[in-house]
Amino acid sequence: MPSFPTVRPRRLRRTARLREIVRETRLHPSMFVLPLFVVPGRDVATAIPSMPGVRQWSVDRVGEAVAPAVDAGVRAVILFGIPEAKDAVGSHAWREDAPVQRALGELRRAFPELVLITDVCLCEYTDHGHCGVVRDGDVANDPTLELLAREAVSHARAGADVVAPSDMMDGRVAAIRRALDEAGFEQLAILSYAVKYASALYGPFRDAAGSAPQFGDRRSYQMDPANGREALRELALDLDEGADIVMVKPALTNLDVIAAVRSACDVPVAAYQVSGEYALVKAAAERGWVDEDRLIGESLTAIRRAGADVILTYFAERAARLCREGSW
Ligand code: PBG
Ligand code: ZN
Repeated sequence: MPSFPTVRPRRLRRTARLREIVRETRLHPSMFVLPLFVVPGRDVATAIPSMPGVRQWSVDRVGEAVAPAVDAGVRAVILFGIPEAKDAVGSHAWREDAPVQRALGELRRAFPELVLITDVCLCEYTDHGHCGVVRDGDVANDPTLELLAREAVSHARAGADVVAPSDMMDGRVAAIRRALDEAGFEQLAILSYAVKYASALYGPFRDAAGSAPQFGDRRSYQMDPANGREALRELALDLDEGADIVMVKPALTNLDVIAAVRSACDVPVAAYQVSGEYALVKAAAERGWVDEDRLIGESLTAIRRAGADVILTYFAERAARLCREGSW
């Protein structure tokens, strides 16, 4: 291997055009998925203080968030619902007239080609805020599976293209796959939150979705952030159960895991730049401490470079515009 002064890496960094042609990692609007929070009622557009620029939308107005994103080149959204009422089992999760189910109809009508993904979980729908039914102070795995399957089938009936279970119960991909197939939705894809860590970075989301656990935490079902090998076990199980796309979350703190998952399987890999990652960027940018657009581009490029094919991000619209303008 030749070395200095024969080799001078700076030769290829001299101009923007040169840097552009040798760039290894590129972003494209088609890889971004925009998360949306839908709430009951009419004419609602409630700002979320810990997520500046993100709102909870009623179904009649959610198009206001989607139209500019679609205009920027975004092709997919993921829906999170806040129900009219909560109970011990989260029964509003599978109601035909719940916000997610109605939003699916409305978005399909207004944006026929938009890819509609739904988050499948119970924490927004249970009065205790856990991701399943609680028995003896902990979430009971197997009784929860049937409820998740019911929610997924309800989303399928309402028009979802992809369902995305985020609960971290063992066996839920298989349970959802079986229920979808039995209901005639064998073509509907499952995006599994295969590797989901118990993270401090979900704080702002729980404000947005009203889904903070009322007692304890989620560490008996979400993964310990210290564990990397376990991520590959979770991956193998979800692939075996029929996951079509696998996700790692959060992205920022798990770039090594994204890379490991990418090289361990051949299905598309998604990564979620979660609410806390968004809030970190926003908070520092508001103070003038970092350049927001540059940090958006840099963080999303790092997630892509680690191996993600699909990125869920609250910056989807802005990031798509930066790609289009060539300013990232
Ligand atoms: C529901 C769910 C959560 C997120 C996605 N689905 C919250 C949680 O597990 O507490 C987090 C997304 C984000 O922080 O942006 N289980
Ligand atoms: Zn949950």
